[in-house]
Amino acid sequence: MSTFLISSSLYAFFLILLSQASSGARYQYKSCIPKNCGSGPSISFPFYIQGLQESYCGYPGFVLTCEDSFPILKLPENNFVVEEILYENRSLRLYHAAVLRSEDSCIPRIRNTTLPASQFDYVSFTGLHLFSDCRQPLPNELLTYNVSCKNDWALALFDKDDNLKNAMEKCDRNIVAPVEGYGNNGTVNNLEEVLRRGFVLNWSTSDCSACENSGGRCGFDGTAYHFKCFCPDRPHSNCCVPGKLFLLVISDN
Ligand SMILES: *[C@@H]1O[C@H](CO)[C@@H](O)[C@H](O)[C@H]1NC(C)=O
Ligand SMILES: *[C@@H]1O[C@H](CO)[C@@H](O)[C@H](O)[C@H]1NC(C)=O
Ligand SMILES: *[C@@H]1O[C@H](CO)[C@@H](O)[C@H](O)[C@H]1NC(C)=O
Ligand SMILES: *[C@@H]1O[C@H](CO)[C@@H](O)[C@H](O)[C@H]1NC(C)=O
Ligand SMILES: *[C@@H]1O[C@H](CO)[C@@H](O)[C@H](O)[C@H]1NC(C)=O
Repeated sequence: MSTFLISSSLYAFFLILLSQASSGARYQYKSCIPKNCGSGPSISFPFYIQGLQESYCGYPGFVLTCEDSFPILKLPENNFVVEEILYENRSLRLYHAAVLRSEDSCIPRIRNTTLPASQFDYVSFTGLHLFSDCRQPLPNELLTYNVSCKNDWALALFDKDDNLKNAMEKCDRNIVAPVEGYGNNGTVNNLEEVLRRGFVLNWSTSDCSACENSGGRCGFDGTAYHFKCFCPDRPHSNCCVPGKLFLLVISDN
């Protein structure tokens, strides 16, 4: 009788422990479900949306915000719209958020961008110099580079252009915008279109595929500073495996 009592209360104790542990774990697994901003790509590890997903669902520094239903990546001095995320290639396509604004000029909104070292690299990069505050009159050879964006204008020259030095001498403001790595030569016909086409960055965080393929959702333990695989039973270090304790209790039943 007493043996039965002890074993049944022990059993109840384990059941409580188990259900508490798994409801906590299920919470992390559930809260890391991919989300989006209303438009744009599905957001999951290493990215997370501030306010919609917990920071442990992503990797430190890979935070996005939603603005007007667009996912925005804030890099030093500039905001970019995340157009596409190729998780399997660990790369993403961005374009400058300045082109979203319909009312005023987009040129003054564009600043020099420095990529956070070790976080992202350019996959395709051509520097497009945007010269503004130019002293009139401009020589004819520079006039052909005149582009406008909304209510403002600048001279747009790719970074290999022979006239770069001329433009630097004539204009006070020189901003380099990353654009797709094509024809780093010639003139830009439509600045908005070139900016809107965007460019591609890659990243190198932990590979999520083993976790995802085993039915888990990737995340990050900020305290231990380590990758986590959130599984329906509990967090694992790499991928989901059948919970042994769980199986034991079930089979004992
Ligand atoms: C992404 O990877 C797939 C297969 O690994 C490849 O076919 C595709 O071209 C890649 N896309 C880009 C943009 O690199
Ligand atoms: C450049 O183009 C804009 C609009 O097209 C125009 O307002 C501006 O005067 C032009 N600048 C020069 C130096 O021609
Ligand atoms: C932007 O970067 C370019 C190239 O590095 C530099 O020449 C220019 O002075 C910078 N502009 C500003 C406003 O810092
Ligand atoms: C620049 O353009 C000219 C004429 O379109 C072409 O002959 C030349 O090869 C190009 N240079 C580069 C570096 O792309
Ligand atoms: C981006 O891809 C290049 C070429 O595959 C690689 O050398 C580089 O390390 C990658 N950068 C990051 C931050 O993952």
